[in-house]
Amino acid sequence: SSRIMLGPLVAAIDQGTSSTRFLVFNAKTAELLSHHQVEIQQSFPKEGWVEEDPKEILQSVYECMDRTCEKLTQLNIDISNIKAIGVTNQRETTIVWDKETGEPFYNAIVWLDLRTQSTVERLINRTPVQHFNFHKTGLPISTYFSAVKLRWLMDNVEEVRRAILSHRALFGTVDSWLIWCLTGGEKSGVHCTDVTNASRTMLFNIHSLDWDPDLCKYFDIPMEILPKVRSSSEIYGLMKSGALTGIPISGVNYISPDFTQILLWCLGDQSAALVGQMCFQDGQAKNTYGTGCFLLRNTGPKPVMSDHGLLTTVAYKLGRDKPACYALEGSVAIAGAVVRWLKDNLGIIQTSTELEKLAAGVGTSYGCYFVPAFSGLYAPYWEPSARGIICGLTQFTNKSHLAFAALEAVCFQTREILDAMNQDSGIPLSQLQVDGGMTSNKLLMQLQADILCIPVVKPSMPETTALGAAMAAGAAEGVSVWSLSPEDLSEVTSEKFEPQINPEESEFRYARWKKAVQRAMNWET
Ligand code: G3P
Repeated sequence: SSRIMLGPLVAAIDQGTSSTRFLVFNAKTAELLSHHQVEIQQSFPKEGWVEEDPKEILQSVYECMDRTCEKLTQLNIDISNIKAIGVTNQRETTIVWDKETGEPFYNAIVWLDLRTQSTVERLINRTPVQHFNFHKTGLPISTYFSAVKLRWLMDNVEEVRRAILSHRALFGTVDSWLIWCLTGGEKSGVHCTDVTNASRTMLFNIHSLDWDPDLCKYFDIPMEILPKVRSSSEIYGLMKSGALTGIPISGVNYISPDFTQILLWCLGDQSAALVGQMCFQDGQAKNTYGTGCFLLRNTGPKPVMSDHGLLTTVAYKLGRDKPACYALEGSVAIAGAVVRWLKDNLGIIQTSTELEKLAAGVGTSYGCYFVPAFSGLYAPYWEPSARGIICGLTQFTNKSHLAFAALEAVCFQTREILDAMNQDSGIPLSQLQVDGGMTSNKLLMQLQADILCIPVVKPSMPETTALGAAMAAGAAEGVSVWSLSPEDLSEVTSEKFEPQINPEESEFRYARWKKAVQRAMNWET
């Protein structure tokens, strides 16, 4: 059968906290042609600890590439048309590996992990330094960011300590780990990261856009283990066929000679979603519902410091000679993760999609409030000692009400970061652009509009994170296969959810939520 001629294709590896995806887009139309998704195991070796296996993460990338290419071949689409691969990833998650063997010394410590809580509390007590950090990094000292996780590995894993002394250790977030492996690992691996991922480590100066020697000294981290910081859209290296050998390829062999020439780019997942949602103008914002939930508002070429508990982060730098753009970010640790918890820990649903049905069946939480502060509370509170609570229970309460309360929790948390964002900028958002896995839940989207009292707008192609990474990859100097401008894409169809309850009711529920949050913060006292 004849091959379909489509012109250049661009792919994205989207390595999230809960799953890995590989997606292939038509660079001329931005149409999603094929994709594959694999779930990632998480382990919780102790209370508050969250780990993932770096090797499994890498294997999942290979598996997704393999399956997607098979699907493309079945569609008669020639995979040698893939001209670029963008990498987008869960941010902050910390890996240290051996540059001589390619073996990680320890599991990846996931961004949600709380093991560094006591270290963080000790550092916070040294207030002047915290202040100094905040100005340079745009981040409060928190368990969330990489520096403390790396510090923990250096203090607790003997192999890491020894490898640092013998100059064999490399540190990286998931983007660095994947790029190093995909560009040839111990033979020719490129050890780099991009400005957006670097800006989540607490070691990076968001003004000078480089690692900060004083911050490294403060955390006592040797700078030689850090990856080189690059822009989000430039050629990092070539995909090495060596890295693809040994992968079981069922059916089709997609390792064409062209495939070894594929180039890589990268962008932290929340930045990629901002790009994919075309939020290139100062003031434009998006909210992504993944494992956590992240509202980013573009603030243009100047970093704006928050007075209301938001982070300042590098949004993107789309080319070596392009200026950096910054964003204010409201980060919520637990969004989709609460669904997984209801499924895996309570067993009240078998699949994520069942949650919507269960909650829609009752249409109310019946006065039940669920604050899923499993990893402390992030923005705007930054309270690592907060813990989850469910309150307002009666004998009438059942699992459907709990399901509803879980969805409402995601919406209330978004309301809190939106309020902070509006206060910081002084210009309230008139509608909220959303994306991410949970946006397929229509009940959640309607609830979100009801609780924010503004419309919620969802693009019909919700894979905006991957689209953003693909755009950055396809538009990079030296590739330039991405010919679409943001204007071309602004026409994409979307679905709009208008608020349907009256604002008084919304305020009433929100006020109760706030009370529940206070309990979650002070549950021990
Ligand atoms: O900061 C963590 C964030 O990048 C994780 O994103 O999509 O895995 O929840 P996600």
